Amino acid sequence: MFDREAAVNAFRAYTAGYDPENPMIRLKIVHTFRVAGLCGRIAGSLGMTGAPLDLAWFLGLLHDIGRFEQVRRYGTFFDAKSVDHAEFGADLLFREGLIGRFPAEGLPEGWPELSETAIRLHNKLTLPEDLDPKTRVFAEILRDADKVDIFRVVAEIPLEERLGKSAADLTAEEDLTPEVMACVYGHRCVPRAVRRTRFDNHISHGCMAFELVFDESRRIAAEQGFLDRLLAEKDENGKPIWNGKETEALRTLRQELRRSFEGSKDTERKDSEPPAAECPAAEKKENNE
Ligand SMILES: [Fe+2]
Repeated sequence: MFDREAAVNAFRAYTAGYDPENPMIRLKIVHTFRVAGLCGRIAGSLGMTGAPLDLAWFLGLLHDIGRFEQVRRYGTFFDAKSVDHAEFGADLLFREGLIGRFPAEGLPEGWPELSETAIRLHNKLTLPEDLDPKTRVFAEILRDADKVDIFRVVAEIPLEERLGKSAADLTAEEDLTPEVMACVYGHRCVPRAVRRTRFDNHISHGCMAFELVFDESRRIAAEQGFLDRLLAEKDENGKPIWNGKETEALRTLRQELRRSFEGSKDTERKDSEPPAAECPAAEKKENNE
């Protein structure tokens, strides 16, 4: 049987080499354990037990291992300004031998190749079409679990910090871009190329929920309530956060998320009409951050 406790100890021993007082390090440790738990829950909902279930959990534990060295070397989690943390982590594990510090007994056959691929792909906007079905399932579980916890991470960042200044200071040029709204109506993630304003970025966090693959992931996301907090119209004091237009856009996004979660994409929309703009396809190499 796979020894999860030994895996946790190996993870703790590795991350102890990075400054545990650094909030960025702490954030990734908490995120890691939550994603591992979510992977287990999603895998369980698909009927997995034993070795495959352990592997799903293990992938959660390993998926962001590149983050620690990324922050030590570059002081940032911004991949575009440093390294692709998924590729970096997979390289550390499977090309530089870091995986040797973790237990392996009890994992299903072929786990190293599958794990390396799933970790490399965990932050990509889409999965390659030719991925073998078994690897795909594990990659999808990991990506869903990661997204579900990212809603929490983002929702817990104070709005001012997230946007760089107070929401009330957003200028007219920082309005919503029509293509972003087209992605909302198309129930798609927002490609980076179409995000121009800070409000676009704000909306695009919520849009990640459209691409959750499994019912269980949607159930957990709804149940945790972080999406609602992320897309709130009012602050803790009941004061509206956004101007009229942005509030309207958030309302539309929440409505579309509800329709997507209920699987009712084809039912009639209640109020607003989709814009004429189109949600363009993402560039091949684009990542989710
Ligand atoms: Fe990641």
